[in-house]
Amino acid sequence: VTPTVVVVGSINVDLVTFVEKLPHPGETVSGGTFVQVHGGKGANQAVAAARLGAQVVLVGMLGDDDLGRSARAELGSEGIAVDEIRTGSKPTGVAQILVDASAENLIAVASGANHELTAAMVEESLGRVDADSAVVCSVLEVPDEAVAAAAAISGERGWPFILDPAPAKPLPDELLARCSVLTPNEHEISYLGKSSPADLVAAGVGAVVVTRGGSGVDVVRANADDHHQPGFPIEAVDTTGAGDTFSGALAWALADGAELEAAVARAAAAAAISVGEKGARGGMPTRAQLDRFLEERS
Ligand code: RIB
Repeated sequence: VTPTVVVVGSINVDLVTFVEKLPHPGETVSGGTFVQVHGGKGANQAVAAARLGAQVVLVGMLGDDDLGRSARAELGSEGIAVDEIRTGSKPTGVAQILVDASAENLIAVASGANHELTAAMVEESLGRVDADSAVVCSVLEVPDEAVAAAAAISGERGWPFILDPAPAKPLPDELLARCSVLTPNEHEISYLGKSSPADLVAAGVGAVVVTRGGSGVDVVRANADDHHQPGFPIEAVDTTGAGDTFSGALAWALADGAELEAAVARAAAAAAISVGEKGARGGMPTRAQLDRFLEERS
């Protein structure tokens, strides 16, 4: 059976300027180059999982505007089911992104329609997902009530729930207790309201998976030894969307039946491949590209 992944998350259009160095507040840097690409942490997770072969349903919101129509068409062309993407009254989300020569980025998001997603909509959409098993993932670019509903319904249906806590903020214990897997990066981990991965696990998170870029991934669980997945050295061009690629690929691998450690290895490889191209989705691998990458390194 084809693994099913359901994403409850954000959809943006990314306005990206590549510059030599990021400006300080009040400073202007010129000489950049510009691209407009599709993004949004939720939509990026959906694309990562779809490219790897998952059947993906995306629950989210777009504006009734050209950017929204273009985003919807792009998601459809990736093979993602777009029927649960609603049109709101606010404009499509937009992210202003600056990327410097060392692939570091700065991102500011105007959430627009993403903030119109309600718990009732999530409940209705997840109720319509016709699958015996699925992995659900979400991000913090949609309202708290939408994330909470996604977590609660996943629990009711017995589906693993992966939360990528980005952008990071303190999370209520009730939500933590419903996360099968939490995937903060090394910066986000300190903003979640707990002082360590072990404290997150004590609050009920099934597994805390901390991504550390080129330094790899740390996995902390209750009743299991800590695990370290080494990083895959790669020349980074643009790290935007690496975290989304990681969590989307992790959802696909778990839905495909992999054990957590094996799924983390595949997700880390997918994220490493993704930073080799510009744009959040530019370098996201297909299944064949991922398999080849892993084979070359084994
Ligand atoms: O994680 C990268 C994403 O964050 C970008 O695509 C942008 O839209 C913001 O949501």
